[in-house]
Amino acid sequence: MMTADRNSDLALCEAGDAAASPDMSGAPSRHHHAGTKPLVLALPKGRILKGAAPLLARAGIVPDADCLDESSRRLRFGTSDPMLDVVRVRSFDVATFVAQGGAQLGICGADVLMEFDYPELYAPLDLGIGGCRVSVARPVTDDPDEDWQRYSELRVATKYPAITRRHFATRGINADIVHLHGAMELAPMLGLSRLIVDLVDTGSTLRANGLREVETIAHITSRLVVNRTAMKTRPEAVTGLIARFRAALAG
Ligand code: PRP
Repeated sequence: MMTADRNSDLALCEAGDAAASPDMSGAPSRHHHAGTKPLVLALPKGRILKGAAPLLARAGIVPDADCLDESSRRLRFGTSDPMLDVVRVRSFDVATFVAQGGAQLGICGADVLMEFDYPELYAPLDLGIGGCRVSVARPVTDDPDEDWQRYSELRVATKYPAITRRHFATRGINADIVHLHGAMELAPMLGLSRLIVDLVDTGSTLRANGLREVETIAHITSRLVVNRTAMKTRPEAVTGLIARFRAALAG
């Protein structure tokens, strides 16, 4: 996990960028306004990105056209605002990019924030997009009368080990975690686990794989997240962007 010192180093780096020689990242180098670099907003790939596009537009942020084209291999994009770039990353990685100061702001699901609980992140706005839930699911073939809550230990496949451990601990159950990064719906049928904990939106993935939702752990929407150090080092730019998102939500 990131330390305050590392964040300070990043802040110093950022401040020193005015004098920096050519950007070695290979990313578009757009030094504007007396050497201040554009802020970076991290966006998650997939369904949240599509949901976020109209909100971004209302906030006056129109990314380069290929940002919404998931077949594009580019990862960093300019926007209609010369002082703002966006990067497109996995939803779990939005929190990491912002917590480590590589991006000053990001949009990420509350599930990711619950899982990582990064102290460097401030989440000032619920954007009301990407609505879904984190749920426990089990095979439809399980005996419905069998109460899984009576076990003291259960094997659970998930991409959310921390959320899962915490949730089952409140039931007095030790969750033996099988940590997967996708396709956890396969785990029960292939004998890796009895249960899964995953995101559920329409429920069609569960149905298509012979599972049913048995408990909702949390309802989820996406949040605007901000790096706390960036709030201090570039307060006007960062609070200005937060205000634009707030106005877009109000409109
Ligand atoms: C999520 C989740 C399920 C699916 C649920 O995956 O892990 O697989 O969506 O959606 P549904 O209830 O509408 O079927 P996502 O598409 O976010 O991709 P991922 O596997 O990369 O996490």
